Amino acid sequence: MRRGSIASLIGIGVVAGGIAAAVALALPWLPTSASAEADRIQPLFWFVIVICIVVFAVVMAVILYSIVYFRAAPDDDSDGPPIHGHTGLEIVWTLIPTVLVTAIGIVSAIVLGRNDALGANVLHVNVTAQQFAWSFSYPDANGLTSGTLRLPKDRSVLLTFTSKDVIHSFWVPEFSQKQDTVPGITTRVHITPNRLGTFPVICTELCGLGHSVMRTQAIVMSPAAFDKWLHSQAKAVASPSSGVAGAAVFKNNQCGACHTLKAAGATATTGPDLDKLPALAQGAGKPLEDFVRQSIVDPNAYVAKGYPRNVMPATFGKALSKQELDALVQYLVSSSKKG
Ligand code: CUA
Repeated sequence: MRRGSIASLIGIGVVAGGIAAAVALALPWLPTSASAEADRIQPLFWFVIVICIVVFAVVMAVILYSIVYFRAAPDDDSDGPPIHGHTGLEIVWTLIPTVLVTAIGIVSAIVLGRNDALGANVLHVNVTAQQFAWSFSYPDANGLTSGTLRLPKDRSVLLTFTSKDVIHSFWVPEFSQKQDTVPGITTRVHITPNRLGTFPVICTELCGLGHSVMRTQAIVMSPAAFDKWLHSQAKAVASPSSGVAGAAVFKNNQCGACHTLKAAGATATTGPDLDKLPALAQGAGKPLEDFVRQSIVDPNAYVAKGYPRNVMPATFGKALSKQELDALVQYLVSSSKKG
């Protein structure tokens, strides 16, 4: 190997590596971390990226150098020289990747192990995914259910996921972890939030027509504020007055993720406007209460004009108990008459 060729290779490598590093550092690829786990995952991400940039620079240097200096002349139709390999070079290009991949494996295993280790006093949250909403229940607080994920800061949280219909995927970018929710099995993720704030909860598995609206919020609160919220909510669950129960069913089943209903402060437009239920019932030629009940239990029986079939899951009504269904029907009938 000539000395000049080594200098050229290094020059090309530095330029290619510099461009890759500039792109890697100039763009804000990762959101500001909000959990102890993300604080470990993000350095691991950069560790792998730096290795990738170095490998990229070396490969680009060899390729560009070869293109420029080993190019055959336009009229040269002869075969290349017979090559018998270079044992030293082969050992080097086997050893270096082995060391790099092993290092990535070891560091990843350490991060995984530490991220999975639960802290003391774990908060359990059961997460249910369905088309097209999330609900979060707190088994230690009488099964209190909420449409937003509220979490105390600096406490170990174990999320257990189930799905009522198809595969969804739970993602909070600031927590740097994703977890699929799969019908028939339960999956888990451990999070220790360490920054106060409100972060988006996003479904990141294409799950149907309402996939893009399958979002809610994760709210990280101080432990005192979280306990206060938990107690106030648990009380509301324990003593529902008749009007509140239907509103709670509406809220817990995330009807507001797809529908508008003034009484519930819901403004989504994926499904028909529930303040216009009396007019829709008239269009369907049914008494209001029967129409509302049918639309929940068998959504495809009558689909409002301008809305596609099968967006509202046919399983929606089956997930409700008889009392919940009755309460929801009463709530929608009375709210829509007011609206
Ligand atoms: Cu649920 Cu996408």
